[in-house]
Amino acid sequence: MPKPALITLVAATALLSACSDRVKDTHPQQLVSKRQAIFKEFTKTLEPMGLVARDRQDYIKTDFMASAQTLQELASQPWAYFTADGNYPPTRARPEVWSQPGEFKQAQDNYLAAIDTLVQVAGSADLPDIRASVEAVQNSCKSCHDQFRSDRQ
Ligand code: HEC
Repeated sequence: MPKPALITLVAATALLSACSDRVKDTHPQQLVSKRQAIFKEFTKTLEPMGLVARDRQDYIKTDFMASAQTLQELASQPWAYFTADGNYPPTRARPEVWSQPGEFKQAQDNYLAAIDTLVQVAGSADLPDIRASVEAVQNSCKSCHDQFRSDRQ
């Protein structure tokens, strides 16, 4: 076999196995995929508000209010997918989600409360208030992740 073809074959095989290393969500209800997709929307929705809070983007009242509203609608959605049978690969959730349901619920409530405050101040044009409430939301994401999300991808 000529060498270039062999190298191509090896490279192709390496690529293929890199893909199949990623664990597929085989659950019939796709619980992990569904909640991860909502969490990604959290990030996407929060990002422009983070830019405003850090003075990297102008505050535009209607846009900011719409983002806050969208985040509030999303905020209640992932939790229903953490069912008793929802702890399986490729989840990044720690086992504490299931072993400490009271604490996990508390972290959700803290997050929802931070979002409520954000929605309340979103249309105020009061940048210090807005900045503080965006930071409070970001902190509640982080504190739940520190407790309930594993670091590995
Ligand atoms: C009450 C706990 C909690 C809060 C609050 C929370 N998260 Fe998470 N988040 C998790 C858990 C648990 C996972 C792991 C989910 C899984 O892999 O099954 C996760 C996963 C994620 C992921 C990874 C999704 C993926 O594809 O692997 C992103 C991004 C994320 N969260 C962003 C956010 C952002 C942004 C916020 C705040 C706006 C937030 N989360 C608030 C618990 C939380």
